[in-house]
Amino acid sequence: MMIKTVFWKNNTVVMIDQNALPLCERQVVCSDYRQVISAIKDLTVRGAPAIGVAAAMGAALGAQTIASEPTGKFQKKFNAICDEIAKARPTARNLFWALERMKKHLDEAIISGKKNLALELAAEAKRICAEDIEINKQMGRHGCELFSDGDNVLTHCNAGALATAGYGTALGVIRAVREQGKKLHVYVDETRPVLQGARLTAWEMKKEKIPATLITDNMAGFLMKQGKIDKIIVGADRIAVNGDTANKIGTYSLAVLAKAHRIPFYIAAPLSTFDFSLKTGAAIPIEERHADEVTRFRGVQSAPLGMKVYNPAFDITPARLISAIITEKGILTRPYTTAIARLREGTNRR
Ligand code: MRU
Repeated sequence: MMIKTVFWKNNTVVMIDQNALPLCERQVVCSDYRQVISAIKDLTVRGAPAIGVAAAMGAALGAQTIASEPTGKFQKKFNAICDEIAKARPTARNLFWALERMKKHLDEAIISGKKNLALELAAEAKRICAEDIEINKQMGRHGCELFSDGDNVLTHCNAGALATAGYGTALGVIRAVREQGKKLHVYVDETRPVLQGARLTAWEMKKEKIPATLITDNMAGFLMKQGKIDKIIVGADRIAVNGDTANKIGTYSLAVLAKAHRIPFYIAAPLSTFDFSLKTGAAIPIEERHADEVTRFRGVQSAPLGMKVYNPAFDITPARLISAIITEKGILTRPYTTAIARLREGTNRR
């Protein structure tokens, strides 16, 4: 069964409402790019690659509203729309990657004398969406070799179909391993404060009948100590050129625990998550989200009113704690600076 997280339909952007899951399966239809910005901000659509696809489609929606402008004005306004969308969330590299690709596509369409620029941009956004699913499947095929029949695998947050256009990065690898006929059992970290693990990863596991057990985040270390976890695999929001990786808050703690228990710790991420302009993870902007995410859940207050809160949505896992990074081009291992430089050269050659 294919979960289609975000797609283009009749000049609208349709997305699964991830805030409603797992209790209610419904879609949100955006006909205006500002609705897409809101959906990214309020986590209706979330997960780095899905945010990228939604951003590209949002830009394509924006292009429709300026379709009658002369070329010069169209380009100026389109770039301004992209810049507005870029402000939706700061950490996931894929958001900026997708908007840069849309701007570049417009440049090329203008140079080659294309007449209907809005149509060209909608086509490019649809391509980004379709490619994302293909890339995840490639990543899955590469990642298979790292997993054995019977492995117990821990994952954090949701790096599944819901975090991408479909299939998933970390959960894509898990899907691919199972498609190869190997049996896996997945431990799902609930992922405080927004519960992407409990709400979304658990929903995906149930939907596809993948054997899985839900745990709270603070149980992970004890399970490792008990020998219940063979491997850990997570996604990424941004990867610096030395391999330092930003991912959902709590990922760093898992990587430290994995090192202490000699458990392989894998990242699965597409090239669009790599930020070739950042030398280390120290420069990755970390989003801080609203205090309500920590003090309340679904309208119920769980901390004293007015309590001071610190709520970083992501953390940085240093490259030295990462056993391998699975990409659509293959598996990267240390030294990551060399591996990522080679990956980049490959990108440039394409
Ligand atoms: O705040 P979110 O839900 O957008 O955070 C998502 C994550 O941290 C994912 O692990 C990451 O984007 C990888 S998704 C393939």
